[in-house]
Amino acid sequence: MGAHTLLGMAVELTVVGSINLDLVARVERLPRPGETISGSAFERFPGGKGANQAVAAARLGAHVRMVGAVGNDPLAEEALDGLRAAGVELELEHAGTTGIALIVVAADGENQIVVIPGANAAVRPVSPRGAVLCQLEVSNDVVAAAARDAAFFALNAAPARPIDLVPDLLIVNRLEHEVVSRGRLVAVTYGADGAALFEHGLEVARAAPPTVDAVDGTAAGDAFAACLVVSLLEGRPRDEALRRACAAGALAASRLGAQPSLPTAGELEAILAT
Ligand code: RIB
Repeated sequence: MGAHTLLGMAVELTVVGSINLDLVARVERLPRPGETISGSAFERFPGGKGANQAVAAARLGAHVRMVGAVGNDPLAEEALDGLRAAGVELELEHAGTTGIALIVVAADGENQIVVIPGANAAVRPVSPRGAVLCQLEVSNDVVAAAARDAAFFALNAAPARPIDLVPDLLIVNRLEHEVVSRGRLVAVTYGADGAALFEHGLEVARAAPPTVDAVDGTAAGDAFAACLVVSLLEGRPRDEALRRACAAGALAASRLGAQPSLPTAGELEAILAT
């Protein structure tokens, strides 16, 4: 079923952000600085915070357009696989090499990620008019342009760095919140402890995630951000939107990989019904 507003119109969302290919090593525990350890498996998944959030929103039924960039290289099509499969409309630049993320995932689901941005540095500024969602894997100039004419602008300030704008909705984890804190609505995630929503500094909603076995935290924040944005655009009450976002994040954390882990609307309804 598609994501529809309470008035029955389809949710439309533009995501301006990064597209990566994730190269993932699975290990028993994360290595210490200077340490070499053996891994148990190596896999490749389409990733990038922008692409992950675009795919997540599309799987929840939204009509999604993604503005991004990939390289003139054989990795580009692999990085775009998940977006194409989810039916995301693509507006792409081609430049240099496709963005890469080197990811190490431990048995307890903890990870370490190093991103080599490559083509993501070539994303061009656009100023869409509808609802827009950005992250900080593209330049501040691109984010500022994306915010300029948006009817609703949501920013997932990850990875965090100072940026001088006030989004309609800011989505951050506890550490990112120390770097970026301004938003008309601010959603702060606390991992397994759930999330809270603040308006003018006052808490207006709080939710806890369902209990899951953590397999890989990669893209859990992306699932949360996309689901919160889609749920609010659907016109759902804030506490319900936050509860749905926590459930989407938990589902993503219970599966391996970035885009393969992102839940569909049906999977989300199923876990919310338990
Ligand atoms: O949020 C997870 C994403 O961060 C990964 O898919 C990786 O590509 C990095 O951008």
